[in-house]
Amino acid sequence: MIKELEKQIADTRAKLFEKLATLKNKKDILKSTELKSLYDEMKVIPNDHKASYGKLLNDLKNELTEASNEDNAGVDLEPIDVTAPADFNISLKDFPELLSSEKGSKNPITAEIDLLLDIFKTLGFSSIESPEIDNDYNMFSSLNFPEGHPARDDWDTFLTHEKDSKNKPFIAPAHTSTMQHRVLVSERAELEKGKPIAYVIPGRVFRNEDVDARHEHTFYQLEGIYVGKDITVANLLNILKVMFSKYFGKDIELKVQPFYFPFTEPSFELAVSCPFCDKKGCSVCSRSGWIELLGCGMVHPNVLEQAGINPAIYTGFAWGVGINRLVMIKYGIDEIRHFMTGNLEFLEQF
Ligand code: DAH
Repeated sequence: MIKELEKQIADTRAKLFEKLATLKNKKDILKSTELKSLYDEMKVIPNDHKASYGKLLNDLKNELTEASNEDNAGVDLEPIDVTAPADFNISLKDFPELLSSEKGSKNPITAEIDLLLDIFKTLGFSSIESPEIDNDYNMFSSLNFPEGHPARDDWDTFLTHEKDSKNKPFIAPAHTSTMQHRVLVSERAELEKGKPIAYVIPGRVFRNEDVDARHEHTFYQLEGIYVGKDITVANLLNILKVMFSKYFGKDIELKVQPFYFPFTEPSFELAVSCPFCDKKGCSVCSRSGWIELLGCGMVHPNVLEQAGINPAIYTGFAWGVGINRLVMIKYGIDEIRHFMTGNLEFLEQF
């Protein structure tokens, strides 16, 4: 009896393969009436032949499945279950190409952010990253830029088409100051217990700028904010002097001139003595001996008030510095676009 059954399968097999060649959607072969009737036989086959018949049938089905997979053009593929659990038993040894002796390294920006955060850790500052998408309130309103304030235009901010619950576009933050309000609010209770707020905030920022060797639409900033009792401009300048001297590994002098930012009063633009030529004048400092490097000032009373901090009791300072610029000065890099291009010739130098 099994011989007959084997022959029946072999005959049908030949027919099925002929049919497969004519099918546009190869997978249809698995739903064919011929195959189905072979399966129906199963019900009437004596029990002692069921196993061997079943195996033959299964082999045929596997063969057809494989053949129907070979030409999948225009065929609906089985969907991939992207929620399926990952196979954590995969070993790196199975992928020798990933174990080559060439090792990657940190992008210089990342390495220098780590270094700056280390410097501030020794000065008692905590750190938190700034987000890459934010809202109008954090970017502007909480920082004393009322609606329609002309200074908003100075930040060339990218907006989304999508609107938030207040029907305002989301914002790709144009400065790390976008984190100031959050930090002030979250640390207010500790401040009232007597612990000054001391934070540095690294982050990626975005501006709708024309790109050239010195300007990028996407770059990094390091924000700093310090609030406590009896804090003055002298404290601000002292911290910045320590930061630059440690960062450049030599004594750096500072020069300030008045400036305007809505979120600080007074506001300053700060220049550092050129770490390359020690004020003698060179190409890095455009022969002036000084390099304008950052904006800073005393936190505006309105910014403190927005965060529920009483400006009659507490004062503080803040600054924001472009990290790309710092790294460019430190290593004499004259092209800001190198940081983003993934140019290996450039990156391998670090
Ligand atoms: N957010 C400013 C900018 O991107 C820089 C800045 C200036 C930050 C003064 C501050 C500050 O915290 O107090 O141009």
